Amino acid sequence: MDRFLIRGGNPLKGKIRVSGAKNAVLPLFAATLLADGPCTISNVPRLRDVTTMVRVLETLGAKAEWLEPDTIRIDGTGVTNLEAPYDLVKTMRASFIVLGPLVAKHGYARVALPGGCAIGVRQVDLHLKGLQAMGATIEMGEGYIAARASKLHGGLVYLDFPSVGATENLMLAASLTQGVTVIENAAMEPEISDLARLLISMGARVKGAGSKVIEVHGVEKLQGAQHRVIPDRIEAGTFMIAAAITGGHLTVEEAPIDMLESLTAKLLETGASIYIGDGSVEVTGPRTIRAVNLTTQPHPGYPTDLQAPFMAYLALAKGTSLVTETIFENRFMHVAELRRMGADIQVQSARGALVNGTTHLSGAPVMASDLRAGAALVLAALAAQGESDISRIYHIDRGYERIDSKLRGVGADIERVQ
Ligand code: UD1
Repeated sequence: MDRFLIRGGNPLKGKIRVSGAKNAVLPLFAATLLADGPCTISNVPRLRDVTTMVRVLETLGAKAEWLEPDTIRIDGTGVTNLEAPYDLVKTMRASFIVLGPLVAKHGYARVALPGGCAIGVRQVDLHLKGLQAMGATIEMGEGYIAARASKLHGGLVYLDFPSVGATENLMLAASLTQGVTVIENAAMEPEISDLARLLISMGARVKGAGSKVIEVHGVEKLQGAQHRVIPDRIEAGTFMIAAAITGGHLTVEEAPIDMLESLTAKLLETGASIYIGDGSVEVTGPRTIRAVNLTTQPHPGYPTDLQAPFMAYLALAKGTSLVTETIFENRFMHVAELRRMGADIQVQSARGALVNGTTHLSGAPVMASDLRAGAALVLAALAAQGESDISRIYHIDRGYERIDSKLRGVGADIERVQ
């Protein structure tokens, strides 16, 4: 298994480019299952999760061909197998998203239950409740969920929580369903709007994506389309924090700054300087990091995926910060590892952690427990004195494209070893 060796202490300087958004790509790929023709998707990051999603689609019978390193053509017209097996779904929970499009187009789908994961229970009840409101019958057994409907119909769905995955699954199903579907308390994440853009190019009638209420007027057929994936706001945010934590100066190119207002506000509160250019953002780290409180929330609130990276930063602040996690019930796995590097962080409950800033962190052998926890360890290691050895970096590779070579390009001393 690969590891990262990072010798910290170099202020990062220069230009670093953001790739396409992982969390946008996965539902976009699922959308291709609805089309009566191939879809071409560009600005696709080459990540483990992307490869897994391609395998899921191929298992179903879709054909996928890379036209360029970042451009893929997916033809879902040959789908005959309506089952997504456990060995794939367990490696990437997001593959559950094929349920909606398959049942809408083929009247049946059987998808393995994703189960728990490192950052919480992560149920799928809202996905199922929505499909039932659209006329699907749901059966559970042998670790699988089967959804059946000779013909889905429109329906009114109220999501008890604005789940990103449930909103996407239901938008996908509703696009190829007779009648009007209204999703109330929908997630407003930018990846939802990106999915709506592809669906609309395919001929779907989707209104309100990016707001609390999404209305989908189902159509009988959807055609193939071309689409460019939005930049990855979480990757961009991670690089912005990397500039700040190392006291460096980075120009983050293709940063979707309009999707990162909460992070920008928080970085400014800590004393970092931010200059928003044309298609890029420049971040300069503060001399002294001011402690700030942070609460994760659904978009446009502060994103849960940048909680762990920001906590690594606050570990070096002057003063005490309270970090509150409201989206997932077990997302402080990085705390124990950050403490190994000298951070003074007390987990007070499943939802709250108190960060007492310290003057320096020290390099240590640490282990990534999930994707964003892994990113937090990379950031801490970049700022720490001495060498860190980060294991289980396959988690990091799930969501950050060539993070080691990108960071090396701006002065980080980071090496991938076996
Ligand atoms: C997506 C993102 C993930 C991000 C998360 C929250 C992708 C591939 N992943 O995950 O990076 O951290 O949004 O912004 O886009 N919930 C239920 N029932 C459901 C569905 C969700 O109770 O049916 C709960 C979950 O347990 C969790 C919360 O809702 O506590 C948020 O989950 P959700 O928004 O669905 O996250 P994902 O779509 O899985």
